[in-house]
Amino acid sequence: MKHENKQSKTGAMGRRDFLKSGAMLGAALPLLAGTLSACASGGRGNAGKVLNAQVANVPSIKLNNGLEMPQFGIGTYSMSNEECKQACLEALRNGYRHVDCAYSYQNERGLGEAIKESGIPREELWITSKIPPTEYGEGKTLIAIDKMLKRLQVDYIDLLYEHWPIGDFVGAWKDMEKAFTAGKVRALGISNFDFIEEDFHAVIDSMKIKPVALQIECHPYAQRLEIRKKAKSHNIAVECWFPLGGAVSQGALFKDPVIKRISAAHQKTPAQIILRWHIQEGFSVIPGATNPNHIKENIGIFDFALSDSDMAAMRSLNKEKRFFTMPFEEVKKMILSRVLKD
Ligand SMILES: NC(=O)c1ccc[n+]([C@@H]2O[C@H](COP(=O)([O-])OP(=O)(O)OC[C@H]3O[C@@H](n4cnc5c(N)ncnc54)[C@H](OP(=O)(O)O)[C@@H]3O)[C@@H](O)[C@H]2O)c1
Repeated sequence: MKHENKQSKTGAMGRRDFLKSGAMLGAALPLLAGTLSACASGGRGNAGKVLNAQVANVPSIKLNNGLEMPQFGIGTYSMSNEECKQACLEALRNGYRHVDCAYSYQNERGLGEAIKESGIPREELWITSKIPPTEYGEGKTLIAIDKMLKRLQVDYIDLLYEHWPIGDFVGAWKDMEKAFTAGKVRALGISNFDFIEEDFHAVIDSMKIKPVALQIECHPYAQRLEIRKKAKSHNIAVECWFPLGGAVSQGALFKDPVIKRISAAHQKTPAQIILRWHIQEGFSVIPGATNPNHIKENIGIFDFALSDSDMAAMRSLNKEKRFFTMPFEEVKKMILSRVLKD
């Protein structure tokens, strides 16, 4: 059964591509004040078939269309289908209920298998995916969405992003609006619309359905103050990619002396301190992890809080230093030349 939508108005890039690109690394909103409600569940209503899922106290963010999205989830960038399946199953076992995927990651089938195998009722999950620019265009994007649903083995996607502001993203958005009306998608978002101001406004100001979220690189070294302010003024949630700096950062954030000091004080790992900072800033955060220990560690951030002075110390680390440094023109070329398998 498709989800009924009542609300109205209001990159095709894989980690391997990033890593391969020499241009990308030199060395390498608070918004919506997060309506906090316990969203985790232990797979009720499907006893016996459901994997042994723990309950995790993951809060939710109330989006501008009224939906509540788990504030924390797992990212799946650069995982093979099998890695994605195993990481998602491990995450679901540990209380995650939100998964961030994308057609360009070429692992939606792995996520689909994990959803099915988990036995967790579909309505207890928040599934995000992204349409790449090579699938943009009126008529074309709707077909791409139907194919995405098949790969994911679901009837609807909770949040569908335009992955990059490249090509006919206006035509694509019109098709995404149609998919929303048809109940195939519950919310629409924009990803990487932080390069060119007009692109952000082309969607925000002119389209019938407003984005609920903006996905951007954001972590303690690149806190993205300007774009966060802009998103907040439009009541758009900010979701952070590379929250731990991404694989390309080679753990740079974990070695930061301030983060290490706060980590020791709370007896939490640097990764947990960083992710807790994201949560307290009001972001949605989707750390990627394939290592089961990382998957468990990352969700262990809902049993402590950073103090005001910890938060101030974390904020002082901002130097707007992004770890993804590929010039936009190169990103465009790379994305448009990439052939994706169904
Ligand atoms: N919209 C976009 O264009 C875009 C771009 C990039 C990413 N994303 C999304 O955002 C998600 C997050 O970004 P990301 O995965 O690239 O980067 P990330 O979450 O900042 O970092 C992932 C890396 O950190 C490691 N890691 C995870 N937890 C750890 C821990 N507790 N301790 C030490 N290392 C840890 C992972 O290793 P293991 O795998 O070994 O566990 C992996 O190498 C992606 O997965 C994807 O869903 C979106």
